[in-house]
Amino acid sequence: MMSRFVYRSGFVVPRYLNSNSSCSISLRQSQLQQQLNPSVAPVSVIPSLLSLHSAVYSFTSPHRLYSNMSIETANKFSTIFEIIRGDHNTLRSLYRCYNDLLPATVTEAKTTAAVEVVTADIEKLQRIVNTLIKLVSQHCSTEQEVLYPRILSITTLSEVEKQQYYEEAYKEDVELQQMLEPIVDKKVTDSDFEEKFQSTFSSVLKHADWEESTLLPQMEKSFDSEFIQQMTKEWRDVVEMQPTRPHPMSPVKPPLSVAAHRASKLLDDAMDAAKGKEFITLEEAQTK
Ligand SMILES: [Fe+2]
Ligand SMILES: [Fe+2]
Repeated sequence: MMSRFVYRSGFVVPRYLNSNSSCSISLRQSQLQQQLNPSVAPVSVIPSLLSLHSAVYSFTSPHRLYSNMSIETANKFSTIFEIIRGDHNTLRSLYRCYNDLLPATVTEAKTTAAVEVVTADIEKLQRIVNTLIKLVSQHCSTEQEVLYPRILSITTLSEVEKQQYYEEAYKEDVELQQMLEPIVDKKVTDSDFEEKFQSTFSSVLKHADWEESTLLPQMEKSFDSEFIQQMTKEWRDVVEMQPTRPHPMSPVKPPLSVAAHRASKLLDDAMDAAKGKEFITLEEAQTK
């Protein structure tokens, strides 16, 4: 069975970063490696820790604590582009659930700083918000490792355009993390939550729209099925090792981001548990 990760000088990196790999993307790999310095940070102990940690966590935690939509979506669809659109659609659906659940009084006060949530739906709203933040964090950091580096391999764009798309994608991720960070541990009942939440998730969905209308079609036109399948495999291999909370100060570009993501994942699970974070499934969120 092929190893899920590439071990190189004591580090774990996505397979596309390993020049010795036998993976079938060698044509584009050489282009990619011109952009990516293959030196990575010392995280050799983290893969085994993460495996143990995830196994224990998933077996010992009820679904409301462990619900992990990114992994479910990654296993549900057959290509990376379908997975990404699937994650985006889940975000849109959860965001709609949040807004539908808000009492009328809250909806009317949505643009003001003073919002009072006074119904029994508070707990459900909070779980929807926790799940949205977790899904965005995992989704963005997986894209940083697997999707955005391949912008430089798009054949339908000029070198200047590719560089612009590449920088824009990472820049938007940093901005989203900066917006998520102030709300990650806020309560939905906090007076300054609603306004920040709405503006953050409108930016998240705008970014998703840009990817779907601009970035993904260019990739779909450029890449052959073998290359797409390799990217899909890499997505599935690393999605469960991603941070579940925003880290605006962390590096976003590989290879440094890979080490940062692995370390953050461990800390984030501990922090989520310490904060008593609870999550929700889409089905439960959509149940009236
Ligand atoms: Fe993105
Ligand atoms: Fe995305």
